[in-house]
Amino acid sequence: MSKKKFFVTLLTLLVVSAVALSACTPAAEPEVVVEEAAPEVVEEVVEEKLAVGIVLPTRDEPRWIQDETAFKEAFTAAGYDAEVLFSQGDSALEKGNVETLITKGVKVIVICPHDSAAAAAAADAAGAAGVKIISYDRLILESEFVDYFVTFDSISVGEQQGQYLLDNATGTGNPLYLYAGAASDNNAFVFFEGAWNVLQPKIADGTFVIKNSSEAVALQDKPTLTREELGKIIGQVTTNWDFDDAKTLAEANLTVAGAADKGDVFILAPNDGTARAIADAFTVDADVTSYFVSGQDAEKASVQYIIDGKQSMTVWKDVRILVKDAIGAAVALLEGSEPVSKGVYNNGVKDVPAIQSAVTVVDKDNVSSTLIDGGYYLASDFTGLD
Ligand code: BGC
Repeated sequence: MSKKKFFVTLLTLLVVSAVALSACTPAAEPEVVVEEAAPEVVEEVVEEKLAVGIVLPTRDEPRWIQDETAFKEAFTAAGYDAEVLFSQGDSALEKGNVETLITKGVKVIVICPHDSAAAAAAADAAGAAGVKIISYDRLILESEFVDYFVTFDSISVGEQQGQYLLDNATGTGNPLYLYAGAASDNNAFVFFEGAWNVLQPKIADGTFVIKNSSEAVALQDKPTLTREELGKIIGQVTTNWDFDDAKTLAEANLTVAGAADKGDVFILAPNDGTARAIADAFTVDADVTSYFVSGQDAEKASVQYIIDGKQSMTVWKDVRILVKDAIGAAVALLEGSEPVSKGVYNNGVKDVPAIQSAVTVVDKDNVSSTLIDGGYYLASDFTGLD
């Protein structure tokens, strides 16, 4: 088989696997993409080179290994080896990765930026080389060259985290500890905004009392926060998406808080890695009687924490859907057509066409019916699962 024919076959198979994946998920309606991605059209535009490259933010968080695995599985099913590069939390390395892929002749780069604003330089470099950019999970800000955005419903992620805490609170005066993601990640703002939508009215009415952020207390009567206001709170309660930072901050908060600020506590933790770190700090505090803590990503370690009663919930974002959407968009861009768009996200300089997928709350009661029965994880990956 010639290389060109091989790649055409690959894209055909990717389309087929996109169809297969779409059969399992109601969220993204990729049929239109599939219809548009007829192999004959693709054959006119693809070259005898790797056409799609993927750049992910770090290997150091299980979340992004989930994405790498899903990309590789989708490409391997198509008989092809995907090039996935990691930026290791370094915007300069990220730009270098993009340049490497451009040099290799890719036509589309799927990139999840380490730093949403700093990644504009990488997107601009790709745009100048005529390479299309798909922003993946995190929006690249301030670049004209972001062609498409595949994302989960990130406002809903925060809202579900807040709702879970609220659903488990009774009475008034419940101690609330707030934590956020990295200020360099646009998603951190969106998650916090979602959580604030749900929690703020319940802070204003006395159900919750914020214990670890003077900035949040100063703004607690405002239902809607500006980006600058969100930035002030996030600046005070950021984990930087780092487990060690999260644990250190939680320990510092607990040192300052008195016994009366503890007891049965409620913790907004932005994702699973930070949730485990924060939970570990709260577990060893003698004045903490019980806690509810949120999470996000359905990382295996957190699923085990949930089974063991050490983390209360996670917001599961099925990365297979995001991968399928990214591949569908890449195929459309390769053939010169517009990917299916369900709306736009403004990145500061343009409205970026986007597709958004729903998320699922997982706690002890539905681990099996969501993550195991759907084949996301094996029951044998865990202990103590009923
Ligand atoms: C992602 C989360 C992830 C976090 C830290 C966010 O942008 O949406 O899934 O946990 O970054 O990597």
